[in-house]
Amino acid sequence: MNVIVCNTADEMDVIASKEFVDLISTKPNAILGLATGSTPIGLYKKLVQLHKDDKLDFSKVTTFNLDEYVGISQEHACSYHTFMHENLFKYVNLPKENINIPDGQAKNLEEECKKYDQKIEDAGGIDLQILGIGRNGHIGFNEPGTPFDAVTHIVTLDQGTREANSRFFNSIDEVPTKALSMGIKSIMHAQNIILMAKGADKAEAIYNTINGPVTPVVPASVLQLHPNATIILDKEAASRL
Ligand code: F6R
Repeated sequence: MNVIVCNTADEMDVIASKEFVDLISTKPNAILGLATGSTPIGLYKKLVQLHKDDKLDFSKVTTFNLDEYVGISQEHACSYHTFMHENLFKYVNLPKENINIPDGQAKNLEEECKKYDQKIEDAGGIDLQILGIGRNGHIGFNEPGTPFDAVTHIVTLDQGTREANSRFFNSIDEVPTKALSMGIKSIMHAQNIILMAKGADKAEAIYNTINGPVTPVVPASVLQLHPNATIILDKEAASRL
């Protein structure tokens, strides 16, 4: 694992955005794996700016998001469909048909999960996967205890994850209890992975990810086994290393 500790969040976003520029300039039809949450918002702002400056063309790019809630509509203000639209998609020239986010409203959720993995495989696999990390070490919505061989699946969200994500909703009661998430195996298939973490509340999870044993108790620790995983941290998230 390559670990980069930055002085500022902006420096983190610059480093991560350069990886996108390098990839898309050499492979215009790159397949990107995207995350939601607070962590990648600054990165997405950089990507939007690079696009505006004519340095990033998304016209042939395909994206796959990690996860989506079950039980709220795609139009809901807190859905990950809305998040991606508001933070990236509406500002760049990514064709609508190239955007993939699990459908948490699908009639048959099991079938939706199978179709999602198949679609990633049919696209040729993910070239660059962006990850955040939960305070409990989750990646995507793979909560502690998720087997490493899990593919895209239906997840019951941890109470702590629902509490952390309740900041986006009016109250914790509104936070869905279930989600669809790419599995750890699906994530580990990506050619390159960048995990970003900002803030002291991620320090323990980061310590366990990098220095702890590789264990499903800390899902992100699996990245120790990935040949091209980079962890980009601010000083606070790196404070326990
Ligand atoms: C989001 C996702 C989650 C988040 C994680 C950190 O698509 O898969 O694993 O990356 O919960 O969230 P933030 O960035 O809000 O701290």
